[in-house]
Order: sequence, then C-alpha cells, then structure tokens
Amino acid sequence: MNKDSPIYVAGHRGLVGSAIVRCLHARGYKNILIKSSSELDLLNQQAVEIFFRMEKPEYVFLAAAKVGGILANLTYPADFIYQNLMIGVNVIHAAHRHGVKKLLNLGSTCIYPRLVAQPMKESYLLMSELEPSNEAYAIAKISIIKMCSYYNRQFGRNFVSVMPTNQYGENDNFNMETAHALPMLLRRFHLAKLIRNNDFDAIREDLEKYPIGWGLHSNQVVSNSNDALEQILNQLGVYRDKVVVWGDGSVYREFMNSDDLADACVYLMQHKNYEDIGEFVNITSGTDILLKDLFDLLKNIIEFFGDIEYDTSKPNGTPRKLPDATKIRSLGWMPKIPLEDGVRKFYQWYCSRGKT
Ligand SMILES: NC(=O)c1ccc[n+]([C@@H]2O[C@H](COP(=O)([O-])OP(=O)(O)OC[C@H]3O[C@@H](n4cnc5c(N)ncnc54)[C@H](OP(=O)(O)O)[C@@H]3O)[C@@H](O)[C@H]2O)c1
Repeated sequence: MNKDSPIYVAGHRGLVGSAIVRCLHARGYKNILIKSSSELDLLNQQAVEIFFRMEKPEYVFLAAAKVGGILANLTYPADFIYQNLMIGVNVIHAAHRHGVKKLLNLGSTCIYPRLVAQPMKESYLLMSELEPSNEAYAIAKISIIKMCSYYNRQFGRNFVSVMPTNQYGENDNFNMETAHALPMLLRRFHLAKLIRNNDFDAIREDLEKYPIGWGLHSNQVVSNSNDALEQILNQLGVYRDKVVVWGDGSVYREFMNSDDLADACVYLMQHKNYEDIGEFVNITSGTDILLKDLFDLLKNIIEFFGDIEYDTSKPNGTPRKLPDATKIRSLGWMPKIPLEDGVRKFYQWYCSRGKT
C-alpha cells in the first residue's frame, strides 16, 4: 500500500471506520476515499458499482454495517440479516469486478457458537449452534467471511477478514438504549456524578449532545425542572447515590480501544495477505476483565463515588467470551493501549466532544 494509493474506508463515520481513517492519516496515507451512507448507500448495488468504477479504490476496509445491542438484534433480525448481507455482497462483488488489490472485512466475535470452549480459536467457527439472540447478524457476518474466502479460491483475490473483540473509543454510540457495555456504563456513571454534584446544566448539555433512547427526545427532556429531570434519570437506573447495572458483575469480558483495532487492521493490510492470515483472524489482547473490576475502574476514572446496584433479575450473559490471541500474535501484532489508559482517554474525549 503506497502513501498515495486510493483506499476506501466504508463506514468512516462509525466507531471502527473513524479509527481506521485516523490511523491511515497518522501513517501518512493521503488518498482516503470516504462516503457517508447518505452519499453512497451500500445497500444499492448499482450505486456501489458506479462508485467502484469511478473512484477505482485499490484497498478497501469494510467497516460499514448495521450494528446494535441485544435488544435491537432481537427486535429487528430481518434488518440485521438483510442490511449486513447486502452491504457485504455489494462491496465484495464490486471489489472483485474492479480489481481491488486487497480488502479487509470487519466481522465480529458473535460468529462463534454459543457454547464454545474458551478462549475461542478461529477453528471453532460453525462447530455448533449460534447464540439465538443475534443469529441473524452472525449468519450475515459468517456469509460474508465465507464470500471473501470463495472469491479468493475461485478468482485468486486477496480478501481477508478480522474478528475483533468488544470495542470502545471515539465516535462510539452512547444511546442509553442501544449502546454497548463500556460506553453505556461510562455515560451512566458520568450522569450519576453530575446529579450528585447538582450540576444540572452539565446534565442538560450531555442529554443534548448524545441521544437518550427509550423514546425520549432530548429537547423535551431537558426542558423539565431539575427534580423532574432527576426522576427521568432515576427511571433509567441513574441516581445521585447509585447506578443500577444488569446482572451481578461476575462475568468476564474483553474491551479494546478502537485505535488498537485500527492499528491491527492497517498492519494486516500493509504486511499480511490471505496466504498468511487464512480465512480470518481474531483481533484480541487475549486478556479480559471481571465486570465488577471494570465498574471500579470506571468509577475511579469518572470520580463517581456512589454505589453500584446489581439488578440480578437481568441476565449476566455467558460467563466468559474471550477470543484466542495465538494467531494474531503469530502474525506479529499486539495491542498497545492498556485498558485503564484507553478508558481515561475515552472519558476525556467524551467530556470534551463538541466544545471545540
Ligand atoms: N463496535 C464494536 O464493539 C465492534 C466489535 C467487533 C466488530 N465490530 C465490527 O466493526 C464494524 C463496524 O462497527 P462499528 O461499531 O464501527 O459500527 P458503527 O459505529 O455503527 O458504524 C457503522 C457505519 O456503517 C455505515 N453504514 C451503515 N449502513 C450503511 C449503508 N447502508 N451504506 C453506507 N454505510 C452504511 C454507517 O455510516 P453513516 O454513519 O454514514 O450512516 C456507520 O458509520 C462492524 O462490522 C462490526 O461488526 C464492531
């Protein structure tokens, strides 16, 4: 990949795509092609075809997807399978037709079976049943991984896939209904701290800056009195003396800063091919954290000195979900951002976003 090679980052406004763009800029790549979904709808095969014909990208990072938490996956399985299949099929086929030199497809660890040995090795794919709650998403992701492999086999392409662990970082989703665990917790602890400090101006600023979810509209919510505002937050599990979390905090999860994932993606694009990587590789540090310890870490960084209430009527999820790091290590890559440093930087970004 030369510094002036045309590189298309699909999904550049998202958590992962924006980190890849930052990483490419930092390494001096100058010819980065980006289009928002309103400029180029990747569900539209003809539009994708025209884009590849006109722009002639040589390298493609496929980080566009319909992504969501468990509730969204359960409610909208048809959207998840349709959109993720269509985006993948349209981009990969156009990349093939227009001779893209290398494509890196972003998958997810939800492709692994529900009850699988830990840590999860790449060879465990399709060994047994998937987790039913996100089956539609997983089947779309597995289909696209396989599509890349079949194009490599039949047409000699160089299309590879990566399976990253849970991500957090700049441009994350903080919607209190749909966010992933770490950004969701960070925002809840932050809001609880602000209630405790009676800083209702800052609460209003936060609610205007990031979507709330649960059918609540920022402009209506912030017009409430301080007491009414506090009650709304209480209903979302955020109090002046405590934050309510799902489950009992006894499960382990890994969290990786999206700048580390971007570093891995760019490294693989620069230095490794399908022959080296095979069908796909996990992007993981190989270490996880007990959720109770993550809560303490977040509380310390945010300086929220209240309690945590465990809502044990809510599911814990699987006890452990850790990808195996052997293959990515053997490819010569390791993450560089320790969790505490990454979360600290993430919280600074969260607080400063939108203030120039
Ligand atoms: N977040 C994680 O923890 C995580 C972990 C492992 C793997 N991944 C994988 O990484 C990839 C990206 O995830 P993310 O978290 O970065 O998602 P994200 O923040 O929701 O971003 C997704 C991006 O996809 C674009 N997109 C969606 N539909 C589109 C369409 N029809 N046409 C064009 N663009 C479209 C959106 O573009 P606009 O903003 O322009 O609408 C958005 O910027 C996914 O494949 C996901 O499975 C994510």
